Amino acid sequence: MATVRFTLAILLTLLHQAEPSAETSVFVLKGQDVHLNVQTNVTLQDVDVLFWKFNSAVNVVKYPPKATFERYKGKAEFSEGDFSLLLKNLQEGDSGLYDAVVSGDNDRNVATYLIQVQERVEPPVLTVESNSNINAICNVTVKCRVQNTFLTSSCNSSTCSQVGGESRGAETSTVPLLSVYVAGGSIICNHSNQVSWANDTKEIKTICLLKLEREREDRNYAVTVGMPGPVIHVIIIFVGCALIGW
Ligand SMILES: *[C@@H]1O[C@H](CO)[C@@H](O)[C@H](O)[C@H]1NC(C)=O
Ligand SMILES: *[C@@H]1O[C@H](CO)[C@@H](O)[C@H](O)[C@H]1NC(C)=O
Ligand SMILES: *[C@@H]1O[C@H](CO)[C@@H](O)[C@H](O)[C@H]1NC(C)=O
Ligand SMILES: *[C@@H]1O[C@H](CO)[C@@H](O)[C@H](O)[C@H]1NC(C)=O
Ligand SMILES: *[C@@H]1O[C@H](CO)[C@@H](O)[C@H](O)[C@H]1NC(C)=O
Repeated sequence: MATVRFTLAILLTLLHQAEPSAETSVFVLKGQDVHLNVQTNVTLQDVDVLFWKFNSAVNVVKYPPKATFERYKGKAEFSEGDFSLLLKNLQEGDSGLYDAVVSGDNDRNVATYLIQVQERVEPPVLTVESNSNINAICNVTVKCRVQNTFLTSSCNSSTCSQVGGESRGAETSTVPLLSVYVAGGSIICNHSNQVSWANDTKEIKTICLLKLEREREDRNYAVTVGMPGPVIHVIIIFVGCALIGW
């Protein structure tokens, strides 16, 4: 037990020490601002200068004296109180690595962020491909589409399973994800990325009732079409009799 705790302590210490250099991923919706804090306690010595840099090469701001480099005028704001950086109105080109470096006798990294700017996802469209209603158990096949990507799923009142279309690893993917599932009595098609989502939904009850109604209408139609049969026979008999001269 003591050994385990000791090992754990070492592990936590190692993790803690590794922390400043490990980058933090941040996803930002295009057009929004992001506020980046330094990730360790920073005290600046006389000779020290703090820089926020983009992709380790482009200077964004420095302090002291507080200055914003030309390319980031109106785009970046530095805060002297906590050394944080505010980046405004992010666009795709702003995606990349942002780090804060204190330069003195040597360089010390005090923050590292990997920023990924994403657009709002487009709303998907959910359509019913087919459904069957056997013994009041409704089984629906739906297609969830966005642009030229789609998923085909077979759903009942409690769950959906994918039967066709594109499949992607959802886990760590940064590309928009399409998923189909059942919740609250509806089939939900959800198109999402890390910063936004949009959905199209269809109530299962409605789909299955529509199907039942259509079947009932079909049956009624068959009955209506079947009707004239005997009537026509009667007419033929009448006409026949008239011709014979009865
Ligand atoms: C940062 O400073 C605070 C307050 O002085 C202190 O409680 C904390 O332990 C420090 N953190 C690190 C990582 O040195
Ligand atoms: C639902 O329908 C699909 C397609 O017709 C079929 O492949 C699937 O086995 C059905 N599932 C159930 C539970 O009936
Ligand atoms: C729905 O389908 C799943 C998998 O096909 C099945 O295990 C489950 O029993 C079905 N539920 C209902 C209510 O039909
Ligand atoms: C769609 O997916 C996103 C991300 O997984 C989630 O936050 C959101 O609640 C989902 N929307 C619906 C309607 O299920
Ligand atoms: C999700 O779908 C519902 C029903 O179609 C709709 O009212 C809602 O606005 C949608 N939400 C989003 C974020 O697309």
